[in-house]
Amino acid sequence: MNLAVNARDAMGKKTGNLTIRTRNVTLDDEWSKAHPPTVPGHYVLLEVEDTGQGMDAQTKARIFEPFFTTKELGKGTGLGLSTVYGVVKQSGGYIWVESEVGKGTKFQIFLPQSGESVQAAGPEKDSESPVRGFGTILLAEDEEAVRDLASEFLKASGYTVLVAKDGLEALEIAEQRRGSIHVLVTDVVMPRMRGTELARKLKRCHPELKIVYMSGYLEHDSQDGSYERGAAFLQKPFTRESLLLKIRELIDGKVHESSESVVVG
Ligand SMILES: Nc1ncnc2c1ncn2[C@@H]1O[C@H](COP(=O)(O)OP(=O)(O)OP(=O)(O)O)[C@@H](O)[C@H]1O
Ligand SMILES: [Mg+2]
Repeated sequence: MNLAVNARDAMGKKTGNLTIRTRNVTLDDEWSKAHPPTVPGHYVLLEVEDTGQGMDAQTKARIFEPFFTTKELGKGTGLGLSTVYGVVKQSGGYIWVESEVGKGTKFQIFLPQSGESVQAAGPEKDSESPVRGFGTILLAEDEEAVRDLASEFLKASGYTVLVAKDGLEALEIAEQRRGSIHVLVTDVVMPRMRGTELARKLKRCHPELKIVYMSGYLEHDSQDGSYERGAAFLQKPFTRESLLLKIRELIDGKVHESSESVVVG
């Protein structure tokens, strides 16, 4: 998804082609020598190619760095490709990019093939009985699509939802709110104010507030300290069930208070 969104951005308002291909490939010794540190073997190749603006060498050299972005303020956080990189590395794979200014960009992801046979999927847990609840939830998320979806899930499950498009707006809503707020569900990386800062500020007036952080950035890649005790973490993209379950557990006090270093993105 991150690669496809980047491709869309690179093609701007002009028409263009986004091509996604998958195939099995075998990387031989020769290929591996030309592409260190690749190990020869059987891989699944996922290619995402666009006919957009492309990149110059300077940009190309930095694209996997966390927070590197060429997009204007508020448009990009620069975490898309570092997240992709994290996922690929975690899976023992490789990612390569070919790009030329004005011509387009092609990302290639090689994931090691698994020798294990595929298990038939069972019925999805809880799909019949979504976790219902009640209480007031303050939702802070700068990405409209995620915000709308999460708000819809929560409202449909019985919660009262206060929606904010960033941390500052969430603070304003909380200040004006007469009744209590039970749970803050917040994105971690947002323009103007990070989710962690928002949580800290809200906790001063609402010490009982429970917190769920949503992030697409891999937890273990973080160096930004740790979440406060009693906070829960939800990896993006999440399902309706995982969101509802996380909130239910938090309200019921079933979340293990982890002292692990987690965060942030
Ligand atoms: N398909 C592409 N074509 C041209 N440039 C690209 C492409 N993909 C990534 N880039 C460049 O790499 C930079 C980093 O990409 P990355 O996805 O990490 O961050 P972002 O798209 O700027 O922000 P975010 O994904 O966090 O919203 C982009 O700002 C852009 O300059
Ligand atoms: Mg991106």
